[in-house]
Amino acid sequence: MTRETWATRMGFILAAVGSAVGLGNIWRFPWITAENGGSAFLAVYLGIVLLVGVPGLLGMFVVGRRAKRNPVGALRSLSGSDRWGLAGGFLVFSSLVLISFYSVVGGWILRYFGESVLGLVTGTVPYFANPGASFGAASAGLDAVAFHLVFLALTALIIVAGIRGGIELATKWMMPAIFALLVGLGVWASTQAGASEAYAFYLRFDTSVLRENFFGLLGPAAGQALFTLSLGVGTMITYASYLDEDRSLPFDGASVAVLNTVVGVLAGLVVFPLLFTLGIEPGETGTGAGALFVGLAGAFSQLPAGTFVATAFFAVVALAALSSAISILEISVSFLVDEHGLPRRRAAAVVGGLVAVTGSVCALEPSVFGFVAGTLVDILLTVGLTVCLVFVGWVMGRDALTEFRKGAGPVGRAVATPWLFGVGVVLPVFLVFTLLTTFGVDGEIGFWPTVVAAVAVAVAAFAGLRGERSLV
Ligand code: PHE
Ligand code: NA
Repeated sequence: MTRETWATRMGFILAAVGSAVGLGNIWRFPWITAENGGSAFLAVYLGIVLLVGVPGLLGMFVVGRRAKRNPVGALRSLSGSDRWGLAGGFLVFSSLVLISFYSVVGGWILRYFGESVLGLVTGTVPYFANPGASFGAASAGLDAVAFHLVFLALTALIIVAGIRGGIELATKWMMPAIFALLVGLGVWASTQAGASEAYAFYLRFDTSVLRENFFGLLGPAAGQALFTLSLGVGTMITYASYLDEDRSLPFDGASVAVLNTVVGVLAGLVVFPLLFTLGIEPGETGTGAGALFVGLAGAFSQLPAGTFVATAFFAVVALAALSSAISILEISVSFLVDEHGLPRRRAAAVVGGLVAVTGSVCALEPSVFGFVAGTLVDILLTVGLTVCLVFVGWVMGRDALTEFRKGAGPVGRAVATPWLFGVGVVLPVFLVFTLLTTFGVDGEIGFWPTVVAAVAVAVAAFAGLRGERSLV
């Protein structure tokens, strides 16, 4: 059977944007920005997206398009070594961990969306349980399991319909809908009472955090950049594996990064005016998930036209979550299809069944949810991307350069060599550094020991790979 491909280049870009634009843009990005100095943090974050996110994304595109296989098959076939197949297996495993919690949050969003629509229809607002409770307490339970299963089923249904008829078709209308709704909500939010206070809070140029804790910020900023660009679990390898035309990868990567960042910034311009207008102190019901699910959701009913706004808002979040969940589930589906010859439908059923169980554990047990969502996923993504980039730089080497240049314009071709040096050497060291500063013992490892450890790990990794092929 021939492998499916995207029907159009735009289809690929929109699917990749669909993967990137997700809960991370709405639930993590505005908070991390507001808490760390507003637009001063934004400047640092944009630097990281440009210097780490985009090169990393292009690394994944290069692997996927070259191999035209799932992450396991890709790393194995490009290296000719089963050990690298195992590294691919680590990515697939991480993707299953990720979808286990992501699908639970997706289920919650679906519930809020449903309740908003119900409010729209009946004129009364039946929702949103437990305002003021903590997110963990409010979210765990059998109803969370039920909505998680509904969300997962929707995700699997789109996957079963295939690359063109499912993922490409779905994301082709979901993405414009998200943009249009967000812009509409942003315009509406700007007319609300709390808007100017919110902008001042969100976008203030406060450099004190940067001056006090610049190196401490790099970890969270990098973590957010990886999460938001869907790096480190093999999503972008998988999506790029369905490319058959050799068009410019740098152009596609840059488009994805720009659109994803625009959505993140826009989301903040909607979320913060809402919170300030409703008199919810940012941070009061927790940041991120807590504010979104408990604070904001509980307060929508106080707004004039609240159900209408809530419906539009949760439609955005639901579409964003769904288009990302598809891209996470597709990793293991493509693995089962490519490597074990399962039909798509069967593969989706197997993976769906597994995640139904693992996700339910997250839905029932707040401590598991908190650990997976708050810590484990960031570690897995960082390790996964580091491994992939070492692969690109040291195993693919010249092949990566060739693939990068194929179809690229003059700018893309000019940056190819520095790009390979960046992904093979600079980024792995930087990523290990952020891993140690963020998750080291007590989060308190000194700067120089960390640098030494990062360099040592990188050198060891490279030394181990020397025999396979060399960089450039
Ligand atoms: N990028 C998605 C978001 O921001 C999350 C994601 C991570 C999706 C990794 C796929 C792979 O919500
Ligand atoms: Na994102």
